[in-house]
Amino acid sequence: MVKVVLKGITKRFGDVVAAGNVNLEIKDGEFFTLLGPSGCGKTTTLRIIAGLEQPDEGRVYFGDRDVTDLPPYKRNTGMVFQNYALWPHMSVFDNIAYGLKVRKVPKEEIKERVQRVLDLVKLRGLERRFPSQLSGGQQQRVALARVLVVEPEVLLLDEPLSNLDAKLRIEMREEIKDLQRRLKITTIYVTHDQEEAMVISDRVAIQNKGVIHQVGDPGEVYNRPKDLFVATFIGRGTLLEGIVEREEEPARIRVGDLIFQGRFSSDHKKVKRGDKVACVLRPENFSLEKPKGPSNLFEGVVEWTAFVGPYTEVRVSVGGNKILIDVPPDVKVSVGERIRVYIPQEDTIILPLEESP
Ligand SMILES: Nc1ncnc2c1ncn2[C@@H]1O[C@H](COP(=O)(O)OP(=O)(O)OP(=O)(O)O)[C@@H](O)[C@H]1O
Ligand SMILES: [Mg+2]
Repeated sequence: MVKVVLKGITKRFGDVVAAGNVNLEIKDGEFFTLLGPSGCGKTTTLRIIAGLEQPDEGRVYFGDRDVTDLPPYKRNTGMVFQNYALWPHMSVFDNIAYGLKVRKVPKEEIKERVQRVLDLVKLRGLERRFPSQLSGGQQQRVALARVLVVEPEVLLLDEPLSNLDAKLRIEMREEIKDLQRRLKITTIYVTHDQEEAMVISDRVAIQNKGVIHQVGDPGEVYNRPKDLFVATFIGRGTLLEGIVEREEEPARIRVGDLIFQGRFSSDHKKVKRGDKVACVLRPENFSLEKPKGPSNLFEGVVEWTAFVGPYTEVRVSVGGNKILIDVPPDVKVSVGERIRVYIPQEDTIILPLEESP
C-alpha cells in the first residue's frame, strides 16, 4: 500500500474555488475522510487524487512518486461512486470481472479472484444475478467488489452509502470499515454526514469552500475544534457570543449578564481582553449535579423538551440565551420549571469569532 500526499492543490471553476491550497498527508493504510457541506469541494479533491481532474496548482504524490501528470488508469486507484454505476445488462460476476478482463488477466485467475472478492463482500452465490435483482446494499457491495478485485493501492469512496436507507447505511459503514481494516488499504472516503465520518475514520479533514479547516482524529475535531466552522459543523451545541474579560486560562467570558470560565480551543495568543469570542457548549457535557472539577453554573427556565431515547433534549432560557442540554431519560423536566445546570470549565470551549483555516 501507499501514502497519499497532496501539496498545495488548488482547483477553480470560474469564480468557485473547489480546492483551495489543500495540503494533506494520508498515511499508508489509513482510513481518511473528507467531510464537509455540499459543494465544499470533496468530490473535486477526490477526483484530483484519482486523476479524473487536473489541479490548477499543486502536486499529488503516491509515496514518493509524483502522479500529478499520470492518467487515471496508471495510478492504480479504485473509485466507488455514489450511484454505484453498475452495468445493468451484466451479471454480478461479469460486473466484477470486467476490470480484470480489460487487463487481460487469464480466465482461470479471473474466476478465482472474483470468487475471493465475492467472499470478501459476502455475495457468494449471487454471481449470476443482475443488478436489478439485488437490494441497494447488495448493489453497493458489487460496486465495492468491482473495485477491490483489481487490488488498487488506494481506495477512493465518494459518498458510497448515500443511496441506502438509514439502517443499512449503519450496517454497511461497519462492513466497509471492517473490510478496510482487514485489507489495510489506504482509503479516502467522502461524506457530508458527520456521524458517519466520526464512526468510520482514523482521521478526518473538514473542508469548507474548498479549504481544509482542520485535520485530526474524530475525538480531536469534536473536542478541540480549531475554529467556529468546525465547532458548528460537527456535533450539536449552543453557540454564545461574548467578550473576553480575562485572557489567561481559565479565560473569563461575559455574555450579557452571564459570566463564565472556559478554555480556548485554538491558538488563543491572538485573543485579547475585550475581543469578541464564541463559546461552544455541547449538550451532553451538562449535568444537573455539580461536577468534581471547576465548573460553570447556568440557571434558567425550561422552554422546551424532547424525548430522544438515550436522553431528553431540553432547551433552557438563561438570561435571554437559549442553551441546549441533554438530561438523563429518567429525570423528569417540565416546561416552565426553573433548573440549574453545570458544565465543566474543561468543556466550555472558547473560539475566536472569525473562521480561520
Ligand atoms: N465541472 C465543473 N464545472 C463547474 N463547476 C464545478 C464542476 N465540478 C464542481 N464544480 C463546483 O465546484 C464546487 C465543488 O464541487 P464538488 O462536487 O467538489 O463538491 P462536493 O463537496 O462533492 O459536494 P456534494 O456534497 O454536493 O457532492 C461546487 O461549487 C461545484 O458547483
Ligand atoms: Mg460530491
